[in-house]
Amino acid sequence: MAPLATAEDLRAAFKLRPEPVCAITTCDEYGERIGMTATSVTSVSMTPPMVLVCVRTHALIASPMRARLPFVVHFLSDGQRDIAARLASPVEDKFEGVSHRMSRSGAARLDRAIAVLECDTTDVHPAGDHIIVVGTVTKVDLGGPDDDPLLFRGGTFVTVATDHRPSR
Ligand SMILES: Cc1cc2nc3c(=O)[nH]c(=O)nc-3n(C[C@H](O)[C@H](O)[C@H](O)COP(=O)(O)O)c2cc1C
Repeated sequence: MAPLATAEDLRAAFKLRPEPVCAITTCDEYGERIGMTATSVTSVSMTPPMVLVCVRTHALIASPMRARLPFVVHFLSDGQRDIAARLASPVEDKFEGVSHRMSRSGAARLDRAIAVLECDTTDVHPAGDHIIVVGTVTKVDLGGPDDDPLLFRGGTFVTVATDHRPSR
């Protein structure tokens, strides 16, 4: 086998690429709300509607994901940098001061995201130091048409450098 690139090499490459920032939330078997900031989120299938999220094996959210509990994907807006930073930090209550309601599954549904996808966990695959969580989307809600997505590039939060907005 060829020698492997280092984690630093890979991080340096991905730093060049703007990535949309998401918040993933769930509710564990004890009724605890859990949340995490994630950029490793992508669509997988349209029919049936499926998405995937790559989660670090040691993240708190990995355990309820392995138990195949439902989760919610939020496409964060440019105005939600504080929430993205909070959900990525080891604070005790990640949802304190974060405006949200509850989904049917008990996960937090954050207000003002540009889109919210409620998902049932379909499959969980091990992949190195992450797990790949595949979810079937049960509900999609879109936010305001004028909201811009929050992006992450070069280790910092940035916004879209154009006034183009997709039509619906
Ligand atoms: C912009 C950004 C993107 C991130 N993307 C991911 C990701 O895709 N997958 C992941 O496992 N962690 C990702 N993280 C790190 C988690 O948000 C972070 O580890 C979080 O605090 C989870 O830790 P916990 O164990 O306290 O829940 C990202 C962090 C930031 C700031």
